[in-house]
Amino acid sequence: MASTRYRLIELLNMNEHHYISGQKLSEELHISRSAIWKHMKELEKDGYVIEGVRRKGYRIVRSPDKVSENTIFWGLKTQWLGKNMTHKKVMDSTQSAAHQEALHGAPNGTVVIADEQTWGKGRMDRQWHSASHQGIWMSVILRPGIPPVHAPQLTLMTAAAIADVLASYTDAEPSIKWPNDILINHKKAAGILTEMQAEEDRVQYVVIGIGVNVNHTQGDFPAELNEKATSIKRETGDHYQVKGLIQHMLLRLEQLYDTFMQSGFQPIRAKWESYGYRLGETIRIRTARNVWTAVFSGIADDGALLAQMDDNEPKKIYSGEMEW
Ligand code: BTN
Repeated sequence: MASTRYRLIELLNMNEHHYISGQKLSEELHISRSAIWKHMKELEKDGYVIEGVRRKGYRIVRSPDKVSENTIFWGLKTQWLGKNMTHKKVMDSTQSAAHQEALHGAPNGTVVIADEQTWGKGRMDRQWHSASHQGIWMSVILRPGIPPVHAPQLTLMTAAAIADVLASYTDAEPSIKWPNDILINHKKAAGILTEMQAEEDRVQYVVIGIGVNVNHTQGDFPAELNEKATSIKRETGDHYQVKGLIQHMLLRLEQLYDTFMQSGFQPIRAKWESYGYRLGETIRIRTARNVWTAVFSGIADDGALLAQMDDNEPKKIYSGEMEW
């Protein structure tokens, strides 16, 4: 989206309860008043209701529920995350689109969002069911410049951000099943797919794919998912605005990422553990080579799962799946 449009929304946003004159907008944006009028028409196409009053100026009366670059930007409180954004109604996968953007130099904090994915990707080469308008299908490009071994910490950070948003802005009580499934009432409501491009000692970029089932009803899931998958609506009975949840998620993600870059993984780990599913219980973990039965005693400083099997030091498990 043109940066002028962003700035226009920003100016109108600052003046939410007041009119801002066409003259002032034209001076601030360095464009003609007729160009301003054209931008207003574009915003109206997106569903904004804009009041224009002679001698007073413009005021946004209502912003729409639908997701678009404009509507997400309106009311987005982040400093840097999502300032560069692509939204499309349909994509095969926001993850693939984000990789393309990253390879073409998209900046840190770029966000790619779709209303529907025709080829949503899950972990372990699974497909991710991404029905139109029912959830959040979004990928975020980060350029943290950290060693590749630390990249899984960003996945745990993202899981903590999603859980925080669900806990604060919905009636759901989320938990996180290691490493990154967000559960509500023991069923999966959201998943995270982290992919990276790295040199030997440094991450070039990370694409964090976030899928959140928001407004699905039972019949909206394919039969094979019905038992294990859920949505926020299914568990709370309430319909949630996808746009608003995306805005909250981007803000929380930015806050946790800034904390991570400034203070390291320790505070993120504590937050993750506060949502840890079956933390302290005996669990079964499947890795590529083994199935372990152990007490899940916590998350290590480097993001590994700590599995206590006997009186010795807990074993660190870096990748695998906790069985249900
Ligand atoms: C999982 O298997 O739990 C991870 C699911 C990740 C799904 C999201 S939806 C947005 C992004 N685009 C994709 O194709 N996948 C991720």
